Amino acid sequence: MPEDVLVVHGGTPLHGQIRVRGAKNLVSKAMVAALLGDEPSRLYDVPRIRDVEVVRGLLGLHGVKVTDGVEDGELVLDPANVERASTDEINVHAGSSRIPILFCGPLLHRLGHAFIPDLGGCHIGPRPIDFHIQALREFGAVVDKTPEGMHLTAPAGLHGTKFELPYPSVGATEQVLLTAVLANGVTELRNAAVEPEIIDLICVLQKMGAIITVHTDRVIEIEGVPRLGGYTHRPIPDRIEAASWAAAALATRGEIEVLGAQQVDMMTFLNVFRSIGGEYKVTDTLPPRAGSPGTEGGIRFWHPGGELRAVALETDVHPGFMTDWQQPLVVALTQARGLSIVHETVYEQRLGYTEALNKMGATIQVYRDCLGGTPCRFGRRNFKHSAVIAGPSKLHAADLVIPDLRAGFSHLIAALAAEGTSRVYGVDLINRGYEDFESKLSALGAHVERP
Ligand code: EPZ
Repeated sequence: MPEDVLVVHGGTPLHGQIRVRGAKNLVSKAMVAALLGDEPSRLYDVPRIRDVEVVRGLLGLHGVKVTDGVEDGELVLDPANVERASTDEINVHAGSSRIPILFCGPLLHRLGHAFIPDLGGCHIGPRPIDFHIQALREFGAVVDKTPEGMHLTAPAGLHGTKFELPYPSVGATEQVLLTAVLANGVTELRNAAVEPEIIDLICVLQKMGAIITVHTDRVIEIEGVPRLGGYTHRPIPDRIEAASWAAAALATRGEIEVLGAQQVDMMTFLNVFRSIGGEYKVTDTLPPRAGSPGTEGGIRFWHPGGELRAVALETDVHPGFMTDWQQPLVVALTQARGLSIVHETVYEQRLGYTEALNKMGATIQVYRDCLGGTPCRFGRRNFKHSAVIAGPSKLHAADLVIPDLRAGFSHLIAALAAEGTSRVYGVDLINRGYEDFESKLSALGAHVERP
């Protein structure tokens, strides 16, 4: 059993207010983008999470000076002295995150060589990087996979290309963006992902001097430029964290106001939340005016009492229902009357965590068939990627081991909703993506303690 354990005395509704900062899945990429510039960049609202530390460490190894700015959560990234790092030093970060794969293009541009360690990230499917490698080769990179990691060179430089992704992968789209901006000529990417975090990354790159056009039908065109400068950027808020706390409010029959949460990037989630029977109120941020100090906006989520309703939902790429919202919300669905159906179409193995919920009293059956309206890539490939949740079920305490980041948070929500005392092992993994989650839990009145 992992030594990092949180004891959770469940059964108390969570009540109160917490704040989310910049989105993990944008901040880490914006930090990599700073490597492309020849001037310092400034990033605000950076959460204190492990993924940020990993990227900070890797940037530091490559000569990018990363310092804390004056404002809490402000980072200054100075790429003036970019240099090669030793493979041994880089390998210290092997297995810790998936972000290192995005260093390929920037390092090739800056140094003509890149070494990428073995990737980490959550075990929610095989998570291949074939699209990344195909795209990099199209740009002119030579990729050499070795047991110690991946070496890349670009003997003739990197040039613009036309590339169509077999699936709108977030990471592969970012790979193309971060490589194409300084490549020689024009790049056309078809079937690109257009998640809000990607659009925000495009904003960062545009601030640096890039020329990027997002056309209709998932086509992105990038006109390579000879140099990029720095940026100053306040990232979009973390819509995955916001939805996780919303799910916690619903599952524990509580009320949580998530300051910083932004409606526009959560519309699909909000519709499902309301269909289940949850309620929310969006408040806008008001600037200071004469006689009033101004207020920070956000979204207040609550359980209005009575019974929740079952729903059928399907995860999808943006603007669909995010795969990362799925696990936390399923805990709330165990409390809804009737049969809910969840069809996971982004990752083939993202329902394994439901076993732990069953151990706690939930009734969740997983299927290999596509139970949603549309057949997906996994339907005929023997992956258990659909779930039927029968509710409401009374959850009881259990000992749980956290398997991955989002499933980990769902375990935590289940323990908070359950009657009795649960022990949640491997809880430090949650720090990869949720800033100060233990302090936030305490602020919301949760009874949790480290033994
Ligand atoms: C990003 O992962 C996020 N991670 C994930 O969040 C998120 O779940 C995912 O996008 C989808 O929104 C970060 O941004 C760091 P993908 P990414 O490439 O980029 C397949 C979290 O908890 N694929 O869009 O790795 C892949 O196997 C994490 O914050 C290939 O087949 O996701 C998957 O089935 C978890 N070949 C699908 O595409 C490739 O070369 C989508 O993956 C690349 C991807």
